[in-house]
Amino acid sequence: MANAPSFAGIPIIPVLLLLLSTFSVSSSSSSSPANGSDTDLAALLAFKSQLADPLGVLAGNCRWIGVSCSPCRHRVTALSLSGIPLVGPLSPHLGNLSFLSVLNITYANLTGSIPPELGRLHRLRHLRLKGNCLSNDIPADLGNLTRLDFFSLSLNQLSGQIHPQLLLRLHNLREIYLYGNYLSGQIPPNLFNNTPSMCYISFDNNRLSGPISPNLLFHLQKLEIISLSGNDLSGQIPPYLFSNTPSLREIYISANTLSGHIPPNLLIHLQKLEIIS
Ligand SMILES: *[C@@H]1O[C@H](CO)[C@@H](O)[C@H](O)[C@H]1NC(C)=O
Ligand SMILES: *[C@@H]1O[C@H](CO)[C@@H](O)[C@H](O)[C@H]1NC(C)=O
Ligand SMILES: *[C@@H]1O[C@H](CO)[C@@H](O)[C@H](O)[C@H]1NC(C)=O
Ligand SMILES: *[C@@H]1O[C@H](CO)[C@@H](O)[C@H](O)[C@H]1NC(C)=O
Ligand SMILES: *[C@@H]1O[C@H](CO)[C@@H](O)[C@H](O)[C@H]1NC(C)=O
Repeated sequence: MANAPSFAGIPIIPVLLLLLSTFSVSSSSSSSPANGSDTDLAALLAFKSQLADPLGVLAGNCRWIGVSCSPCRHRVTALSLSGIPLVGPLSPHLGNLSFLSVLNITYANLTGSIPPELGRLHRLRHLRLKGNCLSNDIPADLGNLTRLDFFSLSLNQLSGQIHPQLLLRLHNLREIYLYGNYLSGQIPPNLFNNTPSMCYISFDNNRLSGPISPNLLFHLQKLEIISLSGNDLSGQIPPYLFSNTPSLREIYISANTLSGHIPPNLLIHLQKLEIIS
């Protein structure tokens, strides 16, 4: 059961091979009110019902490849599918998977908007929806995911501005990847004020515009890599932009309309710098 369907020429790379062994629609819970495990089952079925799933990967009663559960509570803790065409929108019901810590669905032809309900996944640490066709804006509700440490929505068709409060409560965030979308407007000046653990920022190849705030990176002492290239950023590179980022190794800012020159003090502050482009 739940063998990965092999389809000539189509790479199928299920990441987690743990199978959901604990769900059972047949168990009688009629005496008790709907418990969390029932809610999870309903959410998975709603998720599946929105998707075309031409390879039939989500066949059967949620004993799918890519679903992991906690052994004791029988709650879904991870949903991880990569390179499998699911083809369709993400169900808002996914917001009911209240024990989910990993949502990792990449290169799966997901369409439509990101449901704001995902902001209810308060245990989520890893959000990765790279390489789909998701559109519209990034819901501000994702700013409620206070345990997030990895945030990737790269290579989609997301547009609109980055909400100024998107990261203000994500104190544990270490990596954010939004490259390859159509995001526009200024990078909010206070975006990274409360993300002291941030190591990687990748916002390249969007339509971000306007000046870079002089204090944008001031709180990022652990920052190692930042990529802002291929946007419409303009104005000067603020002279002290990198004055408090001693861990920085790589800076990518080409293909913008920035003026002026690389701040002369850059090399004094950045002893680990290897690449600037
Ligand atoms: C919750 O429901 C599931 C399936 O209906 C059942 O197996 C499990 O024992 C129930 N758990 C609790 C704590 O009631
Ligand atoms: C998410 O999926 C990618 C690629 O399929 C995999 O390399 C990565 O380990 C997964 N991450 C988690 C936290 O499951
Ligand atoms: C789960 O989420 C959906 C949509 O967000 C909602 O309509 C539904 O009532 C929720 N609860 C359960 C127990 O499925
Ligand atoms: C999934 O998306 C890719 C790239 O956009 C496309 O080439 C492919 O035909 C799509 N597959 C399905 C089943 O829609
Ligand atoms: C996120 O938090 C805000 C403010 O507390 C709240 O209004 C909103 O409903 C929350 N969103 C979700 C999806 O839980």
